[in-house]
Parts: sequence; structure tokens; C-alpha cells
Amino acid sequence: MTRLVLEAKNLARYYPVSQGLGKPKKYVKALNGVSFALEAGKTLAVVGESGCGKSTLARQLTLIESPNNGELLINNQPTAKLSKSQLKQLRTEIQMVFQNPYGSLNPRQTIEYQLTEPLTIHTRLSRTEKHAKVVEIMQKVGLRPEHAQRYPHMFSGGQRQRIALARAMMLNPKIVVADEPTSALDVSIQAQVLNLFMDLQDEFQTAYVFISHNLSVVQHVANDVMVMYLGKVVEHGTREAIFAAPQHPYTQALLAAAPSVNGHKADLKLAGELPSPLNPPTGCALHQRCPHATSTCAQTEPPLREWKGRQVACIRLEEIG
Ligand SMILES: Nc1ncnc2c1ncn2[C@@H]1O[C@H](COP(=O)(O)OP(=O)(O)OP(=O)(O)O)[C@@H](O)[C@H]1O
Ligand SMILES: [Mg+2]
Repeated sequence: MTRLVLEAKNLARYYPVSQGLGKPKKYVKALNGVSFALEAGKTLAVVGESGCGKSTLARQLTLIESPNNGELLINNQPTAKLSKSQLKQLRTEIQMVFQNPYGSLNPRQTIEYQLTEPLTIHTRLSRTEKHAKVVEIMQKVGLRPEHAQRYPHMFSGGQRQRIALARAMMLNPKIVVADEPTSALDVSIQAQVLNLFMDLQDEFQTAYVFISHNLSVVQHVANDVMVMYLGKVVEHGTREAIFAAPQHPYTQALLAAAPSVNGHKADLKLAGELPSPLNPPTGCALHQRCPHATSTCAQTEPPLREWKGRQVACIRLEEIG
């Protein structure tokens, strides 16, 4: 039996943007109705170009922000209207790893202190028990426990990301949301850190939401892939389905732009640039850039629908198939 650890239903997040004094406030629909489910021990990769709402999604999932709309279930528990103590408890189940480990590590505290902190806040373990856990996790992420008294700047970028991952794993969360966790690292180090993510997943059955620009990284780690464009999902399916035969023109264009993964199966090129999310196009958000768009695409917002074993938001699939 499969077990869902994370469910997003129609999640939306809007940010108010000032247009200047006296002018009415506008809203950026950074996240505009995103739904998915994630099973224990699996990895959902989220891809899409800069500004499409990936980090906004990550902040809603990790309870850093609350969505304006929609529903989020963590470990089958609804996350709306929770008391402070319920929220504190639920936050232990979902952790975040950032692109820049300095974002989550305090430069003025030792590694031991920072790895111990979640245990101090959320458990009643004794000092000796906490120390034993720090030693254990440091070994698991490939760091020497005798370095626990060092400060973040005394480690390399790859080691710092190992520490950030260790901290995220400290309370054995059901889910880790990783936002571009390897893109700031040297290419030679990226594979090692990715392998660490995968080893920890094997051992603890952690589910990952893995945000990445890098499609060869996605191909390496993902079970499922969700492609976003201007705050919405345009295609969502298994890694095999998406990489072997992308169906949405936007997915085809993304893969075409990454020759190392596509093997030249797709060669679609999009015209123009990403429209401003402050003034999103009517109809299909891609229609101005899509070579297959018709006048209907400019008017009708395409719903996500089942197509060739995955979900795709395009009304012209039958014609362009
Ligand atoms: N706090 C905020 N206030 C106003 N607008 C915001 C805020 N956070 C994000 N946005 C806007 O929401 C949209 C989505 O941003 P987001 O950071 O989620 O994109 P992203 O997919 O993570 O991009 P990147 O790949 O560059 O990290 C962008 O247009 C961004 O400018
Ligand atoms: Mg981002």
C-alpha cells in the first residue's frame, strides 16, 4: 500500500505589489492553483524557468508562509487553522534545504550547536543523547564528528550543504523540500551531494520535493516531474514519461534547451520571453510564445487533463500529438 505524506490541493499564493501612491494595489499570482500528491520515500521534482513560482510553492509547503487559497495536508493532517503547538509539531515533519546553506546555518554558532538545536526545541533528550545523535548524523552525511565544534565558514560549500541536510534530517522528517540544493556547488561536488540525498532517502524513506533548474539532476533523482509555468502546472507525470516523450509544448521547449538530456527528440523553440506575472496573458499563459497556439488558446484557460499516462494542460494535444 502506498502512503501519501504530502497533498497540495489548488494551492495559491498572491503577493501585493505597490503600483505607486494612489494607484490600486495589484497582485502577483506567484502560485496559482497547484495540486499534487507525494508518497513516502518518493521524489517529486519541480521544474520551470525563473519566476514560475517554485520557491513560492516551497514556502507554502514548509509552512513558512500560508497560502491565500487551497488546502495543504502534511502526513494526512490539514494545515489550516492550527494552534501554535500543533503547528510546531507539524513543522518537525517537513523541513527545507536552501540553495545557499548559509541561508539555514548561523555563522556564529558551532555545527554541534546548530544540529542540537532542533532536538532541544522538539525533544526531551539528555545532553549525552543529543550528542550521540549529532555524532551519528555527522557520520551519516560524511562529516567527521570531531569537527562538530567548528563553525560553518571552516567547511567547504559541499560540506556546508551536508550540514544543512543533516540539520534538516535531525528530527527524521517525513518530507524534505530542497530548493536548488546543489546549484551553488561546484559541478564536481554536485553528484556527491545528490548521492547523499538519495542514500538518506533510502535509509529513512524521506519524501523529497526537489526543485531544480538542472534537468540532468532531475533525471537522476526524480520519480515524478512537475513542470510549472507562471504559477501553474503545465505537465505532471513520471520521470520516464516526461523525459521519453514530453507532451506540453513548454516541457518540449525546456527539454530541447537541455541537449544533454533530450537526445534531440524534441526541438521546439519558444518565441519571446516569460510574460510578467503581474499581467499574465489571458487563456493559456504560453499562447504568445507557442508555435501551436490558435485563437482559442488565447481565450480558453486549458485545464490539466489525462493524456498519455500523465497530466497535461493544453487543449491542442490531439492536433499536435
Ligand atoms: N515576497 C514577494 N513579493 C512580491 N512578489 C514576489 C514575492 N516572492 C515572489 N514574488 C514573485 O512571484 C513570482 C514567483 O517567484 P518565485 O521566487 O517563486 O519563482 P522561482 O520559480 O523560485 O524562480 P527562481 O528559479 O528564479 O528561483 C515572481 O514573479 C516573483 O517576482
Ligand atoms: Mg526560486
